[in-house]
Amino acid sequence: MHEINIAIDGPASSGKSTVAKIIARDFGFIYTDTGAMYRSVTYLALKYQVSFTDEMALVELIKNYPITFKQTEYGQLVFANGQDITKAIREPAVTNNVSEVSAFPSVRAHLVKAQQEIAKPGGVVMDGRDIGTTVLPEAEVKIFLVASARERAKRRYKENQSKGIESDFETLKKEIEQRDYTDSHRNASPLRQAEDAILVDTTGMSIDEVVTAIKSVVKEKKCKGEFG
Ligand code: CDP
Ligand code: CDP
Repeated sequence: MHEINIAIDGPASSGKSTVAKIIARDFGFIYTDTGAMYRSVTYLALKYQVSFTDEMALVELIKNYPITFKQTEYGQLVFANGQDITKAIREPAVTNNVSEVSAFPSVRAHLVKAQQEIAKPGGVVMDGRDIGTTVLPEAEVKIFLVASARERAKRRYKENQSKGIESDFETLKKEIEQRDYTDSHRNASPLRQAEDAILVDTTGMSIDEVVTAIKSVVKEKKCKGEFG
């Protein structure tokens, strides 16, 4: 039987990767973090001193350093041409430049193609910005997660604290708002809710509550006979 695909989109820190991982684990599905792919290209550009404005050179990086994932008991690892870059792609220098890199249509075209290949067999939970609209327009379940910028900055602040990273709340909030703006206003598949996506406002919701809400959507669609 062909398993369903679940697309989860939304702005930074809306909780996409956290809930997508739990749902994938509980359903026995594969989790794919598409943001990690855009982050990888940004990391490679920094490493090899490729300008963030040189679209063709960025595409060359994608061709020369294939991005792959490996599921381990410690979570998902990200590799570029075999090199483990899981930690490096979370550095602030990557976070602060990734929206510029991901705005280029040919960068997107290459990564979208790779993402569609991953999802072809089904049984995938994929999170990003354009999964429901562009990557998997036929996904059986589409979720659009949102939360206020204040709540999302609070989440990032707490996350940093737990990792022993010092951060300034107002700066985090500004960075999130800046990335929201860039991601939503680019020409190439901007961040937006697909018409058939279910909106979940997670402001004030715990991770468990969000997971339960998404599972209810899957169950309801199944009961309605939208898929087997
Ligand atoms: O985890 P966080 O929300 O901070 O971001 P991410 O999911 O790691 O994505 C990093 C950046 O990649 C986003 O701000 C977007 O600019 C870009 N991205 C995208 O354009 N399309 C996607 N499908 C996923 C991410
Ligand atoms: O992937 P995305 O950037 O959308 O967000 P995330 O990395 O999954 O979540 C950002 C932070 O918010 C993490 O530390 C989560 O544990 C936390 N979170 C939360 O506190 N409550 C939620 N309902 C969802 C996420």
